Amino acid sequence: MLRKVGYNFILKTPVRIEEAGGAAPALALAPMAVLPSCQDQGIGSALVKHGLNECRKLGHKIVVVVGHPEYYPRFGFAKAGEKGLKLPFEAPDEVFMVLELVPDALSGVKGTVEYPPAFHAVT
Ligand SMILES: CC(C)(COP(=O)(O)OP(=O)(O)OC[C@H]1O[C@@H](n2cnc3c(N)ncnc32)[C@H](O)[C@@H]1OP(=O)(O)O)[C@@H](O)C(=O)NCCC(=O)NCCS
Repeated sequence: MLRKVGYNFILKTPVRIEEAGGAAPALALAPMAVLPSCQDQGIGSALVKHGLNECRKLGHKIVVVVGHPEYYPRFGFAKAGEKGLKLPFEAPDEVFMVLELVPDALSGVKGTVEYPPAFHAVT
């Protein structure tokens, strides 16, 4: 059982939202994966909810994700482009989403989300 659970994971990666006046901190919800034989049992949802709660406890305010547009809105994610955020690489608008962990966290924050170099290697 422990071995199976070990294949299901979610990581939070620090990113920065680069704006004209400076940079705002944020987290990217990635990568995440659930073992195929364990999918559709609520494990992914539990990982996302737990991950977001951890982010809140640590005082983070903004979480972005590049992922399935049918999956993440159920956790409160909305289209990031409509909130003034951009990706530094090409991707369909609908896969780039953002969640404000506190009200108005994005107020006055607009710009390009800068990911660590490792993410550019896989895009
Ligand atoms: C996406 C993923 C993490 C979901 O994990 P999971 O444990 O199967 O998710 P849950 O059991 O909590 O939720 C299942 C729901 O997610 C939906 N879902 C699963 N994969 C999906 C996908 N690729 N696109 C859209 N929805 C998806 C299911 O249809 C199901 O919807 P329902 O609740 O309306 O029936 C898992 O499918 C996975 O690891 N996929 C491969 C890696 C990956 O894509 N990682 C995410 C990168 S954004």
